[in-house]
Amino acid sequence: MHDRRDEFLAAIDAAHDLAALSALESSLLGKSGEVTELVKGVSRLPKEERPAAGRAANELKLALEARFAARRAALEAQALDAALSADDFDPSEPPLVAAAAAGVRVPVPRRRGTLHPITIVRNQLVDLFTSLGFTWQDGPEIETDWFNFAALNIPADHPARDTQDTFWLDDGNLLRTHTSPVQIRSMQRFAPPLKVIVPGRCFRAETVDASHEHSFYQMEGLVVDEGVSTANLIHTMKTCLRVILERDVKVRLRPGFFPFVEPGFELDVNCPFCNGKGCSVCKHSGWIEILPCGMVHPNVLRAGGIDPERYTGFAFGMGLQRVVMLRYGIDDIRLFMGGDLRFLSQFDGVTR
Ligand code: DAH
Repeated sequence: MHDRRDEFLAAIDAAHDLAALSALESSLLGKSGEVTELVKGVSRLPKEERPAAGRAANELKLALEARFAARRAALEAQALDAALSADDFDPSEPPLVAAAAAGVRVPVPRRRGTLHPITIVRNQLVDLFTSLGFTWQDGPEIETDWFNFAALNIPADHPARDTQDTFWLDDGNLLRTHTSPVQIRSMQRFAPPLKVIVPGRCFRAETVDASHEHSFYQMEGLVVDEGVSTANLIHTMKTCLRVILERDVKVRLRPGFFPFVEPGFELDVNCPFCNGKGCSVCKHSGWIEILPCGMVHPNVLRAGGIDPERYTGFAFGMGLQRVVMLRYGIDDIRLFMGGDLRFLSQFDGVTR
């Protein structure tokens, strides 16, 4: 077989284009290629001849593989050159598209991306809550009126609907305005005791400015069991804020109104930018509103098929962008979706 080595190598060098090279490669090294058969044939030789023949066959195979690779690289470079200097070359076409059109497999330049800051904080929250026994639930971004509003104790003409500027679809469905509908979906799916978190994207017909986006991320939480109380809610919320803001935080609870909870609260943290002294971020109040929450309204439990005489629950809904902004001192919500790599690459290497 050795005597044919030069013949094979010469044939490789003579292949005049990529298609011819590939055809030659499969005829030599393919599944039943000539050289492949030679290698297989070694096992049929008398025992004492096998080691030497095996070594020779393998060397031949490796030599051919190396020569195929070299020839392919040369032909690819030629093809690319030809494509780039062709009359119909379109300089506005992305180079990889041009290369693909010329049949060239260009190694894609590898630039490692970074995790988006919302993903970073979401992962951290998911880690925390799953370690506390919560499970992660998903729900659809296109919702029905019933799940998004009615089942959450917001009937048709309730004024709370006006505070959530809704993108309505022609068929009467809507883009969910919050992650709360997944409370209902989770209650329908699981019997208590129930502990779920729902990170997800929500939509509102907002005019975009430094603190409003039409698409944003929330993380809903829901716990339903016998004997769940406000004390459980406050403890869970404080744990969550400590982990996310990476320090012990002072919190205060104010009454807040949301139709799906009773009582409802606004949980504020002491402003981490000025330590409560008052600054532009906290609008000189010393506090930042961060976590609306409350005890699940009996009507909501009922809508989810759970007996409110027997079970109670708490729920919360946090705006993930808001948490990320507090955590990293970001002052404009538009940066998250702006696609500016100078912003995003600052999170290079941050994995959690
Ligand atoms: N869904 C509310 C919103 O987007 C936030 C919220 C408030 C969620 C109180 C809750 C809650 O679970 O208990 O405005």
